[in-house]
Amino acid sequence: MYETIRIEQRGEIAILYFNRPDKLNAINATVYKELSDYLQSIEQSEAVSVLILTGEGRAFVAGADIDDYLTMTLAQFSAFQRLGRSVMAQMEQLQRPIIAAVNGYALGGGFEIALACDVIVAAENAKFGLPEAKLALLPGGGGTQRLTRIVGSYVAKRMIFSGESIDAQRAYELNIVTEVAEKGEALNAAVTLAEKILTNGQLAVRMAKRIIDEGLEASLPTALSLEMDATAHLFVSDDKREGIQAFVEKRPPQFSGR
Ligand code: COA
Repeated sequence: MYETIRIEQRGEIAILYFNRPDKLNAINATVYKELSDYLQSIEQSEAVSVLILTGEGRAFVAGADIDDYLTMTLAQFSAFQRLGRSVMAQMEQLQRPIIAAVNGYALGGGFEIALACDVIVAAENAKFGLPEAKLALLPGGGGTQRLTRIVGSYVAKRMIFSGESIDAQRAYELNIVTEVAEKGEALNAAVTLAEKILTNGQLAVRMAKRIIDEGLEASLPTALSLEMDATAHLFVSDDKREGIQAFVEKRPPQFSGR
């Protein structure tokens, strides 16, 4: 069905593989369009509660397809960048958690895609970097901004000025990655996390994603008001009633997502 991505469904967990392994899954416009199309399809159905992004072969995604840059006009380049920006916004607005399972290289646009996910888990051999300055370019898919918001300007500038990659352990120390798995185990670690998320009320999980992201862009009083409104909304949900009832009856809850 898709040319550059592959989807595997495991119950309510969907795994999206970037699937151009002979190019280390480098991104072209088709990758972005197919990712966007898939995100739209899951938003419109209840079949997927958690989405995992990972890469086929030895890379997560090694950045934009540099071969395409040889012939691109400025208009084509700008359109490609706008497309990437809109797909990453779509990821952030998706009312489902997205986990990046970084199995190898996450460079340039690949790192930027991971940074637009809600959680990043990585294999110990994963590499993260924004090497665009080596091509006399800049990260144009949010790298200069999203990375800086996580690690601060000194670390972000060092990474972007030098173009050097960091390994998974360093990414963990910098709060980019929440867990480091053994080589070949990033996807399993992401699935284990997804299964934990699925035991909880999905309304609450989706609300948490929205208010954490929106709250980061707001003043603290505004963000705290968002939080208060969200908790009040959840307080009258079927899921909250079931969660409390199940706790009292000492049984696992059966959430309906309402
Ligand atoms: N765009 C297009 N092709 C890419 C690519 C990219 N971003 N990254 C890797 N490839 C291709 C290579 O050209 C090579 O193709 P070939 O087998 O036809 O020669 C293949 O993927 C394997 O890559 P290779 O460089 O041989 O693997 P390696 O293990 O020696 O090095 C990297 C891996 C990731 C360090 C290296 O491929 C690299 O630096 N890639 C570019 C990263 C980058 O600058 N990304 C930002 C782009 S804006």
